Amino acid sequence: MTATSRRRASQQLAAWDDRVLSWSEQVEASEPFARARDTIFELADPRPTDRCVDLGAGAGLITLPLAQAAASALAVDVAPMMLATLARRAREERLDNLDTRVCDMARLSLEPASVDLIVSNYALHSLPHRGKQQLLERAHSWLRPGAASSLPT
Ligand SMILES: C[S@@+](CC[C@H](N)C(=O)[O-])C[C@H]1O[C@@H](n2cnc3c(N)ncnc32)[C@H](O)[C@@H]1O
Repeated sequence: MTATSRRRASQQLAAWDDRVLSWSEQVEASEPFARARDTIFELADPRPTDRCVDLGAGAGLITLPLAQAAASALAVDVAPMMLATLARRAREERLDNLDTRVCDMARLSLEPASVDLIVSNYALHSLPHRGKQQLLERAHSWLRPGAASSLPT
């Protein structure tokens, strides 16, 4: 974890905590984001037994449908307000299999081979190039043998 990575994560936190309303009420509702959500969901193809992780989950564009289809979903994001909105939506949808974790994804630690599906949409670009590579390597170790990942950006 470099000073550059830490600085970028705190910049993301400040930026996204301020944008939670415009993101969750306008951007997510737009046609391109609905298409992205549907495409990622189709690629991810979650099974009812899958334990899923969404990196940079935001207000839950992908995490909420994942939780509806899979055994569990963990939403990871550096911005607490984004995850607070996601948690409220999960309660409204009566999803009790969705957890949130406020964390810089570059510092996320999960048990090896503990996850069936990892997704991320429009979030990995915030990491420095080397940080992306390191995260992908670590994410690979969290997946059970034969599991899937869907990481469009
Ligand atoms: C463009 S939004 C996308 C949110 C969501 N994936 C979606 O598709 O609607 C980017 C999200 O990534 C989060 N993020 C950015 N850098 C992060 C980091 N280093 N660790 C965890 N989350 C991060 C931001 O807080 C923000 O919620």
